[in-house]
Amino acid sequence: MAALATGIATAKLILCGEHAVVYGEPAISVPFSQAIVKTDVTEATETSFSSAFFEGSLDEMPAFLAGIKEITEQILRRMGDKKVMINVMSDVPIGRGLGSSAAVAASIVRGLYVYFKQPLTEKELLHWVNQSEKIAHGKPSGVDAVTVVTGKPVWFEKDKSLELIHFNQKAHFVVADTGVPSETRSAVLDVGHLLQNDPQLYQPMIIKLGDISREIKKYFETNLDVAQVGLLMTEAQKLLEKLTVSDASLEKLIRTALENGAAGAKLTGGGRGGCIISLVENQESARKVADALQRGGAARVWIFTIGEDNQ
Ligand code: MEV
Repeated sequence: MAALATGIATAKLILCGEHAVVYGEPAISVPFSQAIVKTDVTEATETSFSSAFFEGSLDEMPAFLAGIKEITEQILRRMGDKKVMINVMSDVPIGRGLGSSAAVAASIVRGLYVYFKQPLTEKELLHWVNQSEKIAHGKPSGVDAVTVVTGKPVWFEKDKSLELIHFNQKAHFVVADTGVPSETRSAVLDVGHLLQNDPQLYQPMIIKLGDISREIKKYFETNLDVAQVGLLMTEAQKLLEKLTVSDASLEKLIRTALENGAAGAKLTGGGRGGCIISLVENQESARKVADALQRGGAARVWIFTIGEDNQ
């Protein structure tokens, strides 16, 4: 067995299509390379866990880590009930719509497989991460797991074969964290209730969100018209507000981004807290928007470019 093994995974950022993706509409999701989880696995006499969000034995793990606990136990059983120390170091803020749960799960699974010197296929990793996500979130669409596992920009449609997106040009974004924990699980459940209780009102909004993703995809893959894509993003935000998954903390940051030159802005991920994503024309505009968001009370701000050499 290796003395020290490391597993790494990257967070994800949904550009458009969150919530609608649960109902079969497409979403565009990209790896968020500025937020990474690294897990070290070492030998131990009792299996325990160390991280900024929990410290202790596997048995004492809190309910919000039930998915991670379950897959870790299953993997350890499969590897002959060996004991290990799992040390998770994460740049990904927890519960902010950036796919922290999927990224933590993927980095732990990778670390464990390296530690036990076992080959790990993408398919197996996806199986483990999906299992963990199902326990954590109820009925996830799978978009977080796929983005984290592939580490590539994806055009995701539930139950369809995976399509990757190639960005024809660079696109510049500013991402900001409200500092408020996102309530993905309850937000997803509530959208489900709205659709059940008044499908005539809410179903067209889900389809419209899908149409917005389809339009944005065309721009990314051909000629990026920043102003148009920005408008589409802001339109998606308005629909997400009607679906009740936005909140005042997100809308305050969205307003700040738009007032300071962003072409468009919306929540990203589950919503009701969490992060916003705004599209800007260039790096100069990104810095201006980022400064304003910081002054406006964002807990953290990232400038993020897609379409660089690695994507
Ligand atoms: C969460 O990152 C994205 C949601 O669409 C839920 C899901 O797809 O499972 C809100």
